[in-house]
Amino acid sequence: MVGILNWPELEQSAQDSDPLTWLKGRLGPLYALTRLQKEALLEADRGRSRLRQLTSLYHVLDLAVPLALRMTGTMRWGQRNARAILVAKNEVFLPNLPETFDGFTILHLTDLHADISEAVIAALPGVVGQLEYDVCVFTGDFRGKAYGPHARSEELVVALMSAIRQPTFGVLGNHDTALLIRGLERAGITMLMNENVPIVRGNDRIWIAGVDDPHHYRMDDLAAAVDGIPDDDVVVLLSHSTDGYECAADGEIELMLCGHTHGGQICLPGGLPVMTSSRHPRQLAAGPWRMGRMAGYTSRGIGTSLVEARFNCAPEVVLHTLRRTR
Ligand SMILES: [Fe+2]
Repeated sequence: MVGILNWPELEQSAQDSDPLTWLKGRLGPLYALTRLQKEALLEADRGRSRLRQLTSLYHVLDLAVPLALRMTGTMRWGQRNARAILVAKNEVFLPNLPETFDGFTILHLTDLHADISEAVIAALPGVVGQLEYDVCVFTGDFRGKAYGPHARSEELVVALMSAIRQPTFGVLGNHDTALLIRGLERAGITMLMNENVPIVRGNDRIWIAGVDDPHHYRMDDLAAAVDGIPDDDVVVLLSHSTDGYECAADGEIELMLCGHTHGGQICLPGGLPVMTSSRHPRQLAAGPWRMGRMAGYTSRGIGTSLVEARFNCAPEVVLHTLRRTR
């Protein structure tokens, strides 16, 4: 019935509503409740099986790695490494890129783990503030831990946004709660929850698509993320991890941008990771890679987990420049 809906009023009431009501409006009730239920199960599981946690590999490493670094006197060295952000550059050659997008540059930030990586987050505006780019993307893990409060991480990312130019897009990682979406979107990050947006230049366009976390919550839906995009158009897919990369390559994605691994964070000389928290081949753990005709890039990210230290694996922001193959 025409005239019943008052959009400005609805928008205002959605902004004023409680976080759950807002999220149900943003994602749809089924999606929002399924995501939050999965998050609640993780929290409940932590409460129930304390013994299992204490003996889990993650918990053992959480204690053993900082202890080992302190005992060997290498903690400060690792901390200095973890705060020295590099700017990596990656050129991606695409045959179907419209001429008008030749040179289009994407600033890629990932794995801020903001509330447990405050020193490197404080250094970030000084690095990104000097960069030239057309869009900025975040590929998840805004929060430090995979559970617990998210307010401090949200606060730090919101503050960071004053140093980031628009437009900016993002996806959630396995450390993120969907309750972050409202604050991130209000700060100017358009979150792509199995969604896409076009970037238009004159009569041409490319697309940024994003999937929800495919690693732990497995709420990724690639079909929904590319819904409505014409077959021949260039698609840049944001995904927290490389999970689903085979489908993305078959699904005619041109470029897949990921994080999650931290590049190993603590690596052997030559950047050889000891652990990657990934089910995939080592060549997908850091830097550029390729699957068929799809280009991919896994960023080493900015923050740290387990311990604020990096070895042979500097934190990075990445500038991806799209080039039209002649
Ligand atoms: Fe991470």
